[in-house]
Amino acid sequence: MERVKTGIPGLDELMGGGMPRNQLMLLTGTAGTGKTTLCSQFVFQGFKRHQENGVYLTFEEPPEYIKENMKEFGWDFASLEKTGKFSYIKYDPYRSDDVIEILESGIRENEAKRVVIDSVSALGLHIRDPEELRRMIFSLSIMLRRLKCSAIMVSEIPPGSQGLSRYGVEEFVSDSVVVLYYERIQGTFNRLLQVWKLRGSNHSDKLHPYTIGKDGIRVNPMEEGFLRE
Ligand SMILES: Nc1ncnc2c1ncn2[C@@H]1O[C@H](COP(=O)(O)OP(=O)(O)OP(=O)(O)O)[C@@H](O)[C@H]1O
Ligand SMILES: [Mg+2]
Repeated sequence: MERVKTGIPGLDELMGGGMPRNQLMLLTGTAGTGKTTLCSQFVFQGFKRHQENGVYLTFEEPPEYIKENMKEFGWDFASLEKTGKFSYIKYDPYRSDDVIEILESGIRENEAKRVVIDSVSALGLHIRDPEELRRMIFSLSIMLRRLKCSAIMVSEIPPGSQGLSRYGVEEFVSDSVVVLYYERIQGTFNRLLQVWKLRGSNHSDKLHPYTIGKDGIRVNPMEEGFLRE
């Protein structure tokens, strides 16, 4: 299986060498766990280190806002946009019927190899029928595969939920799943990452601590963490 380097120190080791190329990975977790940061790191490093073009589809946060936040990590997305090899697509979830077409043309225009969808949670604002949503997310995954993109789709774990994603279907259409946790244990907050599933490959099934520091996200593959039962 061919791999792409995620650009996240420590993560490739947990995934048996990297994210499977041309596949769809679900990144999920509770609010504020660093999903947008991880995705930005994936496209930024993909471009810098591997000359892979990118597209970042955002539903909720305006690109200007993401760009400003990511500057803190030294990732200059404004300059990247000027090269024409990376672009943000801001999508209004109330118009989500043709989102697949819009994303597809963005990918073709940039010849993008790395794609982010942040996040599918917003789709439900417009599409209320769960069956339709499931079909829509499935079609999205088919399109990405057809265009040979390595993609990260973001979902979220609603507070108090036992599930993995907003709609309970995202983890089934994705080839791999990475979950981010932020938990208070005995008065201190812990950030933990787990590779939940990885089709056709061996991977760590443990929880590993990660940090969000001045150069982004960093996972410690040598250390194991625990959640409350
Ligand atoms: N420059 C920074 N240095 C260190 N930590 C940061 C920095 N910027 C953000 N963080 C941490 O990352 C968290 C949010 O990151 P991010 O926006 O990537 O999360 P998210 O999972 O996408 O959030 P949401 O669920 O709101 O979409 C912040 O709450 C903060 O703890
Ligand atoms: Mg976010």
